Amino acid sequence: MVLVPATDANIRQAAERLRRGGLVAFPTETVYGLGANALLPEACARIFEAKRRPQFDPLIVHVLDVAHAEALVDSFDERARRLAEAFWPGPLTLVLDKRDSVPDIVTAGLATVAVRVPSHPVARTLLTYAGCPIAAPSANPFGYLSPTTAEHVDSQLGGVVDYVLDAGPCETGLESTIVDVRSDPPLLLRPGGLESQRIEALIGPLGRPEPREMPVVPGQLDSHYAPRTPIVLLDRPASAGAGNHEKGLLALTEPGAAVRASFAAVEVLSPRGTLVEAATRFFACLHRLDALGLGAILAEPVPEEGLGAAIRDRLRRAAARRPR
Ligand code: TXA
Ligand code: MG
Repeated sequence: MVLVPATDANIRQAAERLRRGGLVAFPTETVYGLGANALLPEACARIFEAKRRPQFDPLIVHVLDVAHAEALVDSFDERARRLAEAFWPGPLTLVLDKRDSVPDIVTAGLATVAVRVPSHPVARTLLTYAGCPIAAPSANPFGYLSPTTAEHVDSQLGGVVDYVLDAGPCETGLESTIVDVRSDPPLLLRPGGLESQRIEALIGPLGRPEPREMPVVPGQLDSHYAPRTPIVLLDRPASAGAGNHEKGLLALTEPGAAVRASFAAVEVLSPRGTLVEAATRFFACLHRLDALGLGAILAEPVPEEGLGAAIRDRLRRAAARRPR
């Protein structure tokens, strides 16, 4: 059985497997990760094989605290320290100059490494028992929707991992915010579960990378997070119509009865009408709609503020379909 409840005994076993080169999927506060011992290149290579990534894409390394992060990077400067103190543990990933001890396969040959300190208790217990940094991308096949439940992982990757530790749905539901703290101003490489406004309130405005400066990696490819069903972005809330009966609707809040009745299926991102709830539910709603094999999924617009920026980023990429 690879899908097991994240009990202390199971985490301990999974940690042992991980330490010796196995693959363990585990919950974080953002999404489920597909973890390997970050110091074993062959173990990390199995991640790429399992995800069927067509090219190597740098992995985020998860550690317990700032001291363990410092062991992986050349210099943890003042700005990095302030961000870490304010937001770690939590959904923030910092890109810093790497030390030689970090294997090249983890960073795809880059001179930098992305590090993050997760807050999820299961991720932290796993790190403690494993006693090594854990390299982990989101636990989905290349290009597909990120997993926010253990069932999402099990149905996609259950055959190729040693354990999936199940601790229920992820709290944040969107991947971590990634900031490159080496440049001045620091660059927002990926909007995510920590609102960029909160970072800017602490260290001032963040830069946005020029498209040319972006490392060419899947997390930044337009076709990332794509479901199998084509997604169409609406520029206003959905209306009822005869053309909807073979389509699904990803609604922001509960639509009117006539709109609901006109679609084959409706998923509501936030019944309560908050962007935090919408973020938490985002990938699960898309997984459910995608499983229905409909002709298209229409997605209502999400406001830009707060976590809306990260949701819009995922939606835009999901709508840009991979060439076949
Ligand atoms: O919330 C998260 O960050 C989740 C959980 C599991 O921690 N992980 C995650 O990993 O989203 P992944 O592989 O799906 O996305 C990591 C992205 C890569 O696609 C890449 O864009 C960026 O992180 N990245 C990693 N190392 C980098 C580096 N050295 N420089 C720039 N970007 C990097
Ligand atoms: Mg990913």
